[in-house]
Amino acid sequence: MADIGFEGRVAVVTGAGGGLGRSHAMMLAARGAKVVINDLGTAPDGDGSTHSMADKVVEEIKAAGGEATANYDTVSTWEGGEAIIQTALDAYGKLDIVINNAGILRDRSIAKMTDEEWRGVVETHLSGSFYVTRAAFKPLRENNYGRILFTSSGAGLWGNFGQMNYTAAKLGIVGLMHVTKIEGQKYNITANTVAPIAASRLLGSVMTEQMMEALDPGYVSVLACYLLSEECTFTGGVFSAGAGHYGRAAMVEGPGIALGEQEEKVTVETIRDRFSEITDLGGAQEFFKSRDRLVEMVGPDLFSQG
Ligand code: NAI
Repeated sequence: MADIGFEGRVAVVTGAGGGLGRSHAMMLAARGAKVVINDLGTAPDGDGSTHSMADKVVEEIKAAGGEATANYDTVSTWEGGEAIIQTALDAYGKLDIVINNAGILRDRSIAKMTDEEWRGVVETHLSGSFYVTRAAFKPLRENNYGRILFTSSGAGLWGNFGQMNYTAAKLGIVGLMHVTKIEGQKYNITANTVAPIAASRLLGSVMTEQMMEALDPGYVSVLACYLLSEECTFTGGVFSAGAGHYGRAAMVEGPGIALGEQEEKVTVETIRDRFSEITDLGGAQEFFKSRDRLVEMVGPDLFSQG
C-alpha cells in the first residue's frame, strides 16, 4: 500500500506554535499539506501574546521544504475563528483539514476557582473549538470533503482533581465532535477526537524528565495524521494516544431494565431492588446519535409516534 500523503490538502492547526500542535503541523507539512499555523502565543495559562511562536514553526516548515502560513488570532472569539479559517482560504484557496488543538490550563480546586479561571479555560478550549469548526464548516461543505480533529484529554473523559474548568471543556469538545460527525456525514466530513498524553510545556511542571522523554508528541501526531487522511473514513471516535499506546474510548450504555409496561407502579424501592441490574454495563453498547438510543430505550413504534 502507498504511504499516506497530504499533497494538495490545506490544513489549519490551532495552537500550532508549540507542543502537540507544532508536531501535528510539521508532520502534515512533511507529507505535503499546506498548513496554517495558528497560535496566539500565550503563556500556558493564556496570558500575553506573541507572534514569534507561530512564526518559528512556519520557518521550520519552510526550512524543511514545506508550505506554511502564520495566523495569530485567538480561537476564543467568533471573529478569531473566522479570521483563522479566512487565512487558509486567502493563502491557499480552500480548506480540507482542521485540528482544534489550542489550549491553556488554569487549575484550581472547586471552591477556590475564580470566574476568570473558569471562563478563560472554557472559552479557549470549548468555545474556541466551536468558533473554528463553525467557520470551517461552510468551506468544508462546499469542498464536499473534510477531516476535523478535536483535542480532548483523559481529564475530560475521566475527571481530574483541580480541573473542573478544563474537564468540562474537554468533555464538551466530545459533544462538538458528535454533532460535527452527524452534520458532516453527507458532505464526506469526518470528525474524530484525540485524548493525548505528550511531553509539552503544559505537562512540564508535573512530569519527570524521564517521563517527558517517553512522551514524544510524535506518537500522537501519527494517529492524528492517519485520522486526517483521505483513506481513513472512521468518524466519531475518541482515541487515546501517548507513549506508543493507542486505543479508543467511548460512551456506552448498559441494556438496563424496562419497567414501563409492568402493571405494578414503579417506586423508589423498585429502583433500589433492581439497582445492580440498572448499573450493570454487561452488554453495553454505543450509539451513533441520540435518536438511535431513544429507539433502543422506548422501541421504534413509540418513538415514531412522537
Ligand atoms: P502547549 O501549551 O504547548 O500548546 C498549546 C498552544 O495553544 C500554545 O502554543 C498556545 O500559545 C496556544 N494557545 C493558547 N490559547 C490560544 C488561543 N486562544 N488561540 C490560539 N492559540 C492559543 O500545550 P500542548 O500540551 O501541546 O496542548 C495541546 C492540546 O492538547 C491542548 O488542547 C491540551 O489541552 C491538549 N492536551 C495535552 C496533553 C498533553 O499531555 N500535553 C494532555 C491532554 C490534552
